[in-house]
Amino acid sequence: MAALTLDALTSLAKRRGFVFPGSEIYDGLQATYDYGPLGVELKRNVQARWWGEMVHKRADVEGVDAAILMHPTVWKASGHVDAFNDPLIDDKASKMRYRADQLVEGYIDKLRSKGKDAEADRVEKDFVAALNADDMPKALHDLIMGEQIKGPDSGAFDWTEVRQFNLMFSTHVGPVADASSKVYLRPETAQGIFVNFHTVREATRQAVPFGIAQIGKAFRNEIVARQFIFRMREFEQMEMQYFVKPGEQMEAFEAWREARWNWHLGNGIRAEHLRWHEHEKLAHYADAAQDIQYKFPFGWNEIEGIHSRTDYDLSRHQEYSGKNLQYFDPHTNEKYIPYVVETSVGLDRTVLMLLCEAYDEDTLGGESRSVLRFHPRLAPIKAAVFPLVKKDGMPEIGHKIEQALRDEGLTVFYDEKGSIGKRYRRMDEAGTPVCVTVDSETLENGTVTVRDRDTLRQERIAQDRVGEYVRDAIKMWTRA
Ligand code: GAP
Repeated sequence: MAALTLDALTSLAKRRGFVFPGSEIYDGLQATYDYGPLGVELKRNVQARWWGEMVHKRADVEGVDAAILMHPTVWKASGHVDAFNDPLIDDKASKMRYRADQLVEGYIDKLRSKGKDAEADRVEKDFVAALNADDMPKALHDLIMGEQIKGPDSGAFDWTEVRQFNLMFSTHVGPVADASSKVYLRPETAQGIFVNFHTVREATRQAVPFGIAQIGKAFRNEIVARQFIFRMREFEQMEMQYFVKPGEQMEAFEAWREARWNWHLGNGIRAEHLRWHEHEKLAHYADAAQDIQYKFPFGWNEIEGIHSRTDYDLSRHQEYSGKNLQYFDPHTNEKYIPYVVETSVGLDRTVLMLLCEAYDEDTLGGESRSVLRFHPRLAPIKAAVFPLVKKDGMPEIGHKIEQALRDEGLTVFYDEKGSIGKRYRRMDEAGTPVCVTVDSETLENGTVTVRDRDTLRQERIAQDRVGEYVRDAIKMWTRA
């Protein structure tokens, strides 16, 4: 199999209608993407599986769907107004803007790729110290100057100072755009859970420990948005906050780590393509933080964070709102602010990971084919139906099978044009696990040919067993 490049994947994603640049007829709007017919099905399948596992299968997790626009004090309390910043630096020669920390990381990677490990270790040590410095922007600037790091695009060494840049998008509510009407587009969905902690608990009569889950859009004015849908300015998160008694957070943290790892495996991700990354520097309010990283074509990168956030968020909201957010524990008669274990995964990043994981190339009858080996439960189209020829009543039988599958809630593609080989190939590229062909034998004995995307095995089954066959393919699938 050829090594996957992000370019090959981006091109397939557009060609087949998974994901493409937003507003493209106006030359696009940087770092915004639209999901096409296949992409939206894939995305909805991922959402549905996350919701199914996180909410429906558990008695101790409830769902919410909070507003994107929230009271501006929410973001003061959460710390985002003061601290949700990236350090940016401009190359005066090329007028390109970079994240100063990523510039240094790139420089360290370059040293390593040249086998200069000792030098890379030294810079990395200084880098960690700069990130922890009281005046982090100045420390990063000093490091860039000291190492004489050049602009990646211009090759020049002509930098501005490092400045902090707040990533929140702001807008105004109502007709007057002044300071009092300023609100933010939420940069994470989590705060919509924290502010509703009491209301949800009272409405559902849940007792601690319990969780609240949410799927929704988040917005960040990323300085450098790149790598396709890996880093976007508008994206979707699937987050869950699990509220526990103080002292019981580590047990919950470990249980959620295991659950979340297994969720990714259940999506067909190979374990060797996943790893844990433990945060060396914890946020001041966290007492444990680990990320799940995936081996993307451009390197290991985060897809999900599992963080133990103590009582920081609820305490801050109690302080800023003046409302009592303590929990009264009926078993111990104690009052406390619950601690929180958070799981936070990016939906778009999960889609990108699934596309990378599924992408494969092989040779079939001397021709190379691209195939997306999605877990059938996530595949956008579950089955394709092809009449071999457009006559002798085959299309009518094909449409009957198609409708029967649709009535069972399965997504189906019907195609009667072109050679059967080409039709199969098109479905391989869409990741469709089962193709059903109606041929002359169907007219004689009511059987059809079913073809498996991965094994390429073909067998004949009765046409009224197609739905069962597809459901079995979804249930029994294992990665070859
Ligand atoms: N509430 C915690 C939180 O928001 P985060 O690490 O900033 O934590 C969680 O974000 C997840 O959201 C990330 O692991 C990633 O999958 C996704 N994410 C964050 N920024 C993103 C962006 N600009 N584009 C796409 N996904 C993003």
